[in-house]
Amino acid sequence: MTATMRPIYLDYNASTPVDPAVAEAMRPFLDDAFGNPSSGHWASAPAKAALDRARSQVAALLGAAPYEVVFTSGGSEANNLAIKGTFYAPNRRGAHIITSAIEHPAVLAPCRFLERLGGSVTYLPVDRTGLIDPEDVRRAITPQTLLISIMHANNEVGTIQPIAEIGAIARKHGIRFHTDAAQSVGKIPTKVDELGVDMLTIAGHKLYAPKGVGALYVRSGLELEPLIHGAGHESGPTRRNRERPACHWTWNGLRAGG
Ligand SMILES: Cc1ncc(COP(=O)(O)O)c(C=O)c1O
Repeated sequence: MTATMRPIYLDYNASTPVDPAVAEAMRPFLDDAFGNPSSGHWASAPAKAALDRARSQVAALLGAAPYEVVFTSGGSEANNLAIKGTFYAPNRRGAHIITSAIEHPAVLAPCRFLERLGGSVTYLPVDRTGLIDPEDVRRAITPQTLLISIMHANNEVGTIQPIAEIGAIARKHGIRFHTDAAQSVGKIPTKVDELGVDMLTIAGHKLYAPKGVGALYVRSGLELEPLIHGAGHESGPTRRNRERPACHWTWNGLRAGG
């Protein structure tokens, strides 16, 4: 490469730059509007209003209700929350998870971790185009199956999985269904009801947000054990906001709609 040649960055599936409009929208919260959105006094109001607006915008993108959106530090945390939070949830049925061999490490690693804790995991194969056969999903279901986690779009080869078909199978068997949509949100339609998913992962830095921003859609009524026990952010146990009574963390887990 000569001094006059500039490299061109094309790997937007690994990460995108922060959009100038995003940086502009965030600016006030890096300067003056620093209040803790969970505080409940004058200094928290601008931050809380911005958080509420952001939650509504993410919900609109997914065709969900704002109280079904839990902000996380990124796609990895959202995947971990969906998988481990389901495994640890009170009253869970069984300890069997169905996933695919081509999931992102942020799904495969929590699954392997749960195997060490007594869980069992089926890693479904894919065909030569990277596609999962929904019939394989159906055949893998046992009375012990508590979760199906299949990614929407693959991060290496871009294969888009038949999520709506798999969602219909999951619903028929009453099994919770998660999709890692880190590579698809903002690029192809990701309305949760059309996909038939109960949980859906978003990674902000794949669509022009800064690193350290993500979300998990959690269908109203699902219980999830939190990964981190402590402060009341994101509907935590000490939160005061009564406007979204349908979604709250309990000491036992996240109860959305409960
Ligand atoms: C499919 C998929 N899932 C999850 C992740 C992890 O997201 P994050 O980097 O926000 O933790 C990525 C990022 O590469 C991804 O491509």
